[in-house]
Amino acid sequence: MGLTEKQRDQFERDGVLVVEGFADTAACKELIERSREMLEAFEPESVSVFTAHEQTRTPDDYFLESGDKVRFFFEEDAFLPDGSLKQAKELSINKIGHAMHDLDPVFSSFSRTPDLAAVAADVGFVDPKLLQSMYIFKQPSIGGEVTCHQDSTFLYTDPMSCVGFWFALEDATLENGCLWAEPGGHRGPLRKLFKRAPGGGTEFETLSDAPLPEPGDGRLVPLETPAGTLVLLHGQLPHYSGPNRSPRSRHAYSVHVIEGDAGYPDENWLQRGDDMPLRGFA
Ligand code: FE2
Repeated sequence: MGLTEKQRDQFERDGVLVVEGFADTAACKELIERSREMLEAFEPESVSVFTAHEQTRTPDDYFLESGDKVRFFFEEDAFLPDGSLKQAKELSINKIGHAMHDLDPVFSSFSRTPDLAAVAADVGFVDPKLLQSMYIFKQPSIGGEVTCHQDSTFLYTDPMSCVGFWFALEDATLENGCLWAEPGGHRGPLRKLFKRAPGGGTEFETLSDAPLPEPGDGRLVPLETPAGTLVLLHGQLPHYSGPNRSPRSRHAYSVHVIEGDAGYPDENWLQRGDDMPLRGFA
């Protein structure tokens, strides 16, 4: 239960902590199976391509309304020039988001365990609230790169409090697009805010010109993690994941947690209906 003192110190120092063997194999398999069922049931009538490349992000209503729903986002490279899918629907989805942790019983029970609550308390949460969940497929051959970013850009609170709980459901390796992070980089400034624009859609506001690390510049270290690993990511920690050009998928699940009494701006992209207040680990 919870973290050792050494692990707590490490998270405070590095802004990232890798805990191998946190989730058991059966729990990971159950989540993979549940995602498969959800994909099977999904009828793609409305298409939203999710990509973290700023220039190609398509923040349409399907995305903007997903904060309290379960929605499906395609890989950017999933389509042929005529708009049809290159491969089966099940191999074309980039991610599911962003409220399975509240709306789906299997995801809810994976996301709400005494062990996770203990970890949250150990990294300083007093009244943790589960804000967002994502099931990330990183599909074979077409799994998209996620450019270097800080999660507080997308999940800002005042004061900043976001921590990502990222689970490797399958082995994540250099070949299939594992995470990369900049240890200690969480002490740098928040570079950008991703917000709802006054005229509709979204926009980035630049807060600092300090450059984020880039792949190949030596500041990012790879986090190769076997299935069952929990990676904690501080909200200001620069991190990245490469494309997956390998024949093996790299399924992962993440939950982002914020402090209950922190201010939550109306301009944040992720909003919830009044009928679905944020819940903690209980
Ligand atoms: Fe992230």
